[in-house]
Amino acid sequence: MTLPSIDPTATDSWKRLQEHFKTVKDVHMKDLFAQDKERANKFTIKWDDFYVDFSKNRITEETFNYLLELADEVKLKDAIKSQFSGDLINQTEGRAVLHTALRAPETSECYVDGVNVIPEVYEVKQKIKQFTNDVVNGDIKGFTGKAFTDVVNIGIGGSDLGPAMVVDSLQYYKNHLTTHFVSNVDGDHVNEVIKKLNPETTLFVVVSKTFTTQETLSNANTIKAWFLKSAGEDAIAKHFVAVSTNIQSVKSFGIDENNIFPMWDWVGGRFSLWSAVGLTISLAVGYTNFESLLVGANKMDNHFKNEDFKTNIPVVLALISVWYNNFFKAESEAVIPYSQYLNQFATYLQQGIMESNGKSVDRNGNLIDYETGTLIWGEPGTNSQHAFFQLIHQGTKLIPADFIGFTKSLHGNQDHQDKLISNFLAQTEALLNGKTEKEVIAEGARPDIIPFKVFKGNKPTNTIFVNKLTPESLGKLIAMYEHKIFVQGIIWNIFSYDQFGVELGKQLASKILQEFNSTDNNEHDSSTSNLLNYYKSLM
Ligand code: F6P
Repeated sequence: MTLPSIDPTATDSWKRLQEHFKTVKDVHMKDLFAQDKERANKFTIKWDDFYVDFSKNRITEETFNYLLELADEVKLKDAIKSQFSGDLINQTEGRAVLHTALRAPETSECYVDGVNVIPEVYEVKQKIKQFTNDVVNGDIKGFTGKAFTDVVNIGIGGSDLGPAMVVDSLQYYKNHLTTHFVSNVDGDHVNEVIKKLNPETTLFVVVSKTFTTQETLSNANTIKAWFLKSAGEDAIAKHFVAVSTNIQSVKSFGIDENNIFPMWDWVGGRFSLWSAVGLTISLAVGYTNFESLLVGANKMDNHFKNEDFKTNIPVVLALISVWYNNFFKAESEAVIPYSQYLNQFATYLQQGIMESNGKSVDRNGNLIDYETGTLIWGEPGTNSQHAFFQLIHQGTKLIPADFIGFTKSLHGNQDHQDKLISNFLAQTEALLNGKTEKEVIAEGARPDIIPFKVFKGNKPTNTIFVNKLTPESLGKLIAMYEHKIFVQGIIWNIFSYDQFGVELGKQLASKILQEFNSTDNNEHDSSTSNLLNYYKSLM
C-alpha cells in the first residue's frame, strides 16, 4: 500500500484550525492556567518512565481536538500501519522504511517483498554481539598480538551522528575502549584523530551504507595509508571492519568479507543507529547496553503504534509542532536537554528532522504552498541559559522549545542535581508567565529601565521528564523524535525518507575538484568563478 496524498490545508480540521487560530493567537497561557486548575493534568501524558507535560502550550482543549481531527483526516492511523508493515512508503526510492524492525522482538515478523526480515536482523545482531564481546574481552587482537584499546568510527551523516551522539550520551556506561569519530573531509579532522592512535591497538569501523560517500572513503583511505606504514597488507583484516549494503565495494577497498556487517536499503541512513551502524555504540558500551537501547526504542514503537492519539507522545508532540509551524508561523524549534550527556542530541536531531522534512513538493509531485520542516537547534541547559536564552525570553521570535530532563543524576550528586532541576523547572515557568510591568515596578526597578525588564511570557514549551538517563530511556527518547518526524511528514503530505536535496552540491563539488588540477573551466557564475580562481592562484 502506498501513502495517501491528502493536502492538509484542504481538510475541514485545517480550516477550523485557521478560524480558531484567530481567536486564540493572542490568548496568554497564564490566563488559560488561571481559568482551569486541571489544565496541567489534562495536558500531561504519563507513560512508563516518561512524564510529558505539554500544558505550557498556546492551545486550548478545542485546539487539541482540532489537531487530533487533523491526524484522523490525513489518515495517520493507516500510515503508521503501512510503515510498520513494510509497505514501500519511501516511494521516491521504492523502499520500505523499517528501522522499527531492527528493534522488534525476535519472535515478530516483518515482511519486505514477501520475506520476513527479522531472522536476518537477528543474524547480524548475533554477529555484532560476538564481535563486541571478543573485542571488549581482548579475544580478538591486533597484528602484533595486543588487545584493542581504541575504536575509530569512520562515517558521516547517519553513519556518524547517531553513533557519535549515543556514545557521548552513554559515556557513563562506557567500558575501557576509547572511541573516536572521523567524519569531515577536512583533513585536519582525520589527522588530529590519527595523532592519538597507536596502529597496533586500534580497530577501524568504516560505516557507509552506500560505500560511495566521498568523505568516508577519503578518510578511510587516509587512515589505511597511515596504518600500512606500520603494518603489512595482511594486517588490514585484523584492524578494519565495515558496515555497508555495498559488499562489493567494501571488498575492493580491501576489507575481508568476514569483517563486513551488512545492512539493508530499507534502513535510512539517519535512522540507522539501531543496525550494525551502531557497532561502535556496542563496542563502546557493551552489547547488553546496545540491546537495552533497542529495547527502549521498541517500547516507544509499541506506544506509538497502539496508543490512542490523545495520549500518544510522538503524535501529540508532532501536532503541537504543526500548530506552531503552520499557524503561528514559528520557523524554528529548540531542544534543550538538561543533561550535559545529551550535548550532541540537537545536532543529531538536525539531520533526522531537517533531512527528512525539509521538502517543498507534496506526495503528488506538486509544489507546496504551506510551511514544512522546522529548523531545529539547541544546547544543554544550563549552559544555553547563559548563551541564547535571552532571545527566547525577550526576542521578537516565537521559539517553541522541548525541555528534556532526568529526575535522577547518574553520579548522584544531589546538590548539583537539585540546582540543575530547579533551573529546568524555573525556565519553563518563566517562559510561560513572563514578568509584568507591575512586578518590575514592585521590585523597585529604575523607572527608565522598566520596559527593558518586562518579559511578555507566553512562550511555549514541552517538558519531557524522564526518570534516569539509561540506554533504554535514551532509546525511547530517540524513537520518540523519529516518530514525531514521521507524523509531521504524513501531515505535510511529503516524502520524509529521501534526501535528493543533498545531491546537487555533491555533483558540483566533484566538478570543481577536477578543475583544481586542470585548465578545464566549467561554466560558473562570476562569483564562483572568481572564488575558484582565487583559490587556484594560492594553491
Ligand atoms: O547526507 C546525505 C547522506 O546520504 C545521508 O542521508 C547519509 O546518512 C550520509 O549521506 C552518509 O551516507 P553513507 O552511509 O552512504 O556513507
